[in-house]
Amino acid sequence: MSGLAILTLQLSHFRSHRAARLEFDGRPVALVGANGAGKTNILEAVSLLSPGRGLRRAAVEDLARRPEAIGWKVAATVAGLSAAHELETWAEGGPRQVRVDGKTAPQLALARILRMVWLVPAMDRLWIEAAEGRRRFLDRSVLSFAPDHAEAVLAYEKAMRDRNRLLKDEVRDPHWYGALEAQMAASAAVIAANRADALARLMAAQEGAETAFPRASLTLVHPEGEVDDLATALAENRRRDLAAGRTLLGPHRVDLQAVFSAKGVPADQCSTGEQKALLISLMLANARALATDLGRPPILLLDEVAAHLDAGRRTALYDEICALGAQAIMTGTEPGLFDSLGARGQSFAIADDIGQSSIREVP
Ligand SMILES: Nc1ncnc2c1ncn2[C@@H]1O[C@H](COP(=O)(O)OP(=O)(O)OP(=O)(O)O)[C@@H](O)[C@H]1O
Ligand SMILES: [Mg+2]
Repeated sequence: MSGLAILTLQLSHFRSHRAARLEFDGRPVALVGANGAGKTNILEAVSLLSPGRGLRRAAVEDLARRPEAIGWKVAATVAGLSAAHELETWAEGGPRQVRVDGKTAPQLALARILRMVWLVPAMDRLWIEAAEGRRRFLDRSVLSFAPDHAEAVLAYEKAMRDRNRLLKDEVRDPHWYGALEAQMAASAAVIAANRADALARLMAAQEGAETAFPRASLTLVHPEGEVDDLATALAENRRRDLAAGRTLLGPHRVDLQAVFSAKGVPADQCSTGEQKALLISLMLANARALATDLGRPPILLLDEVAAHLDAGRRTALYDEICALGAQAIMTGTEPGLFDSLGARGQSFAIADDIGQSSIREVP
C-alpha cells in the first residue's frame, strides 16, 4: 500500500526559511539538524497542507519570515488520495489562502487530498495537563477520520458564544435562549457521534495490532455526567449558568481518559516514557485505522519523537512506520537517531547559517 506523500515542498519566506526546496520520494524522511536549524518549521509548513492552523496552532501572521514580514507561501506537489496534485497555501496580510492545481479552494478541500497525523513535543504533557489539550487531541483525531467534524464544532462554538454573551449580559428572558440551545444540542449530537466513532476506531485499530507500543484504553469523561437531552438540560441549567457567566454543560467540557491497558494504570500516573509510548501507540492506531479507511496510510509528522525513545523502541517505531508504508516526516538533532531507519528512509541535513537556511539530502 503506497502512502499519501509530499513529493516536492517549497517554502518562501516561511518562518526561518527564506527560500527552501525539498524533494521526497515517498519513503520516511529524517530532518536532522541543530537546535534552531528550522526542522519544526518545515513540519509546520507541511501541516498547513491540511485544514486548520497547523501543528503549532500559530496565528497566520507569525508564519511570515522576520524581519521582512511580507507574507509567506508553502507549495507542494503531492501524491493524494485519488491523484497527484499541486497544492499552494499562503497569506499576505490577510487570512490563509489555498489553491489546488492552480484554482482557489477552501481549506477543507485539502482534506479530500491529504490526511495527516502528528505528534509534537507540546503533547508530552497531554495526560497531566488540562482537559482542553486532550479534547483538542481527540478532535484532531476525529478530524482525521471525518474532516467535516470541523463544521459541527464551529456551529456549536458559535451558538455557545452567543449564549454565553446572553449569560454575561444577565439576560433572563427564555425567549432568547431557546433557538441557541436547540442549535447547540443539534451540533452536540453530531460532535458526540463523531467522537464515539473515532474512539471506537482507535480502540479497534489497537486490537490485535502487532506493535511494540502499549495499548491505551480510552473513555470519554463527562464531568457532569452524560446528558441525553442537551437542549432540555441547558434550559434547566440557565440559572446556574447565569451565576457562572458561561455554559457549564456540553461537549466543550468532555475529557478524554486513557488507561495503560496492560497495567490498568491511568495515563496521568504513568512514567514520562510510558506516557509518550501511549501517545505513539494512539498515533499509530490512528494511522492504521485511516489506512484501512482510505486504502492508503496518512502522512505522519513526528517532531522530536525519536529522541525520547530507547534504541529498541526507536527501531520498533521505524519498523511499524515502514510496515504501514507511511511517509513519516521526522525530526532529530543527531543523525544517529535514525541509524536503524537506514536506507528505508531519506535523510536531510538542515542548518541555519546567520539567518540563511540550508537544506541538503544526505545520501
Ligand atoms: N517568523 C519567523 N521569522 C524568522 N525566524 C523565525 C520565525 N519564527 C521562528 N523563527 C526561528 O526559526 C528558527 C528555527 O525554528 P525551529 O523551531 O524550526 O527549530 P528546530 O530546528 O525545530 O529546533 P529544535 O531542535 O530546537 O526544536 C528559530 O531560531 C526561530 O526563532
Ligand atoms: Mg524543533
